[in-house]
Amino acid sequence: MSLLLNQRQSYSRVLRHITLLFLCVLLSACGSGSGGKQAQLDLEAAAAAASSANANNNGSDYSGPDPQTVDVQQFRLYLWENLMPQNRCGSCHGDGGQSPSFVRQDDINLAYAAANTVVNLSSPIESLMVQKVGGGHNCWLPSDSACADLITAYITNWAGNVVGGAKTIILTAPNLKDAGDSKNFPEDASLFSSNVHPLLTTYCAECHSDTAVVPQSPYFASADADVAYEAAKSKLDLDTPANSRFVVRLGSEFHNCWSSCGENSDEMLAAVSAFSNGIVQTSIDPDLVISKALQLGDGVLANSGGRDETNIVALYEFKTGTGTTAYDTSGIEPSLNLNLSGSYEWVGGWGVLYCKWLKSVTPGHE
Ligand code: HEC
Ligand code: HEC
Repeated sequence: MSLLLNQRQSYSRVLRHITLLFLCVLLSACGSGSGGKQAQLDLEAAAAAASSANANNNGSDYSGPDPQTVDVQQFRLYLWENLMPQNRCGSCHGDGGQSPSFVRQDDINLAYAAANTVVNLSSPIESLMVQKVGGGHNCWLPSDSACADLITAYITNWAGNVVGGAKTIILTAPNLKDAGDSKNFPEDASLFSSNVHPLLTTYCAECHSDTAVVPQSPYFASADADVAYEAAKSKLDLDTPANSRFVVRLGSEFHNCWSSCGENSDEMLAAVSAFSNGIVQTSIDPDLVISKALQLGDGVLANSGGRDETNIVALYEFKTGTGTTAYDTSGIEPSLNLNLSGSYEWVGGWGVLYCKWLKSVTPGHE
């Protein structure tokens, strides 16, 4: 999912826009049943004001030679101004500092020359600068990927006509893997119901059952073994039982253990292993001609392909995957980040799932 806003919308309209879209997300994503939970979404006004002050103050101090070309001026406006603050790249990549000195303040033309060695204007996302910071190099935000997206946007805005307004999808070849024997979930729930189900109904039904006082999906602890089995499948890893969410939640996330988390997670692991051991591997018929194997995680996310993003002022792609912030990665300062709170869950493939947030919408400021 992604959300974008363009210049014609004032910030107050922006807020209503967000509210509206999230209502839709909620309605389509959650059924009834997870009662009593609250969620809210709020604009991070203080942070936005601070970051605006930052970017503007430092930028206006420039007193070196004039930009020699229009492109140098574009570079200055879109990349240099955004990266030169001391709390971003300025403390190291300035004049006399660490090479490349792409945010030096003595001469914008020399900064431009240095920047050109680490950007790719025809494909900003492939810039060395983006890869370096995305790989964990001095990001100024808690999320490396948010910094990488922002720098990509700065470079894209600098490049302007060179790349055009539409984002492209970068296809990368996956590692080659042979298709091997694998385990599949048996059709009927009997193996599950004799191994894993008893633990779930004993210790998790208080919440994860459709008949609980405050039912919490997924309903893998439903007394009905078929219902429970369906809900449990995505939480079980048949090839590596220790990676099953049921085991990880107890062992490393300390989620509702019934005595000691270590022991409980071992007990769950034993149950999932017994279930998995009872399943015969599906082998590939040696007479078949088969291709290489692809798994879901090898896919390329293509959410943004082809959409025109000219003149946007805020862009939310919900890519971070953890934490409480949905970053505005439009590259237009000030960043209008969103604070997430209440009952929400990050989901794979870029997104946030909100449940029952209708109950306590906090509209922020109009
Ligand atoms: C605390 C100092 C420091 C900060 C802050 C810093 N860098 Fe660096 N940067 C370095 C050092 C040291 C190197 C050289 C060693 C290395 O490659 O890691 C470097 C190297 C690089 C390179 C690689 C150049 C090459 O040719 O391989 C890029 C690109 C880069 N930095 C971009 C950035 C960006 C963009 C920022 C701001 C978001 C930033 N750096 C912030 C210290 C810093
Ligand atoms: C007191 C209520 C409660 C109990 C008891 C409970 N859970 Fe949960 N569970 C939740 C809530 C709330 C969520 C959704 C928020 C979250 O992910 O933490 C959840 C979500 C989950 C999820 C789905 C999200 C994911 O990370 O995959 C799993 C798996 C899970 N619980 C496992 C368990 C297991 C196993 C037990 C029993 C040992 C259990 N829970 C007992 C409240 C509970």
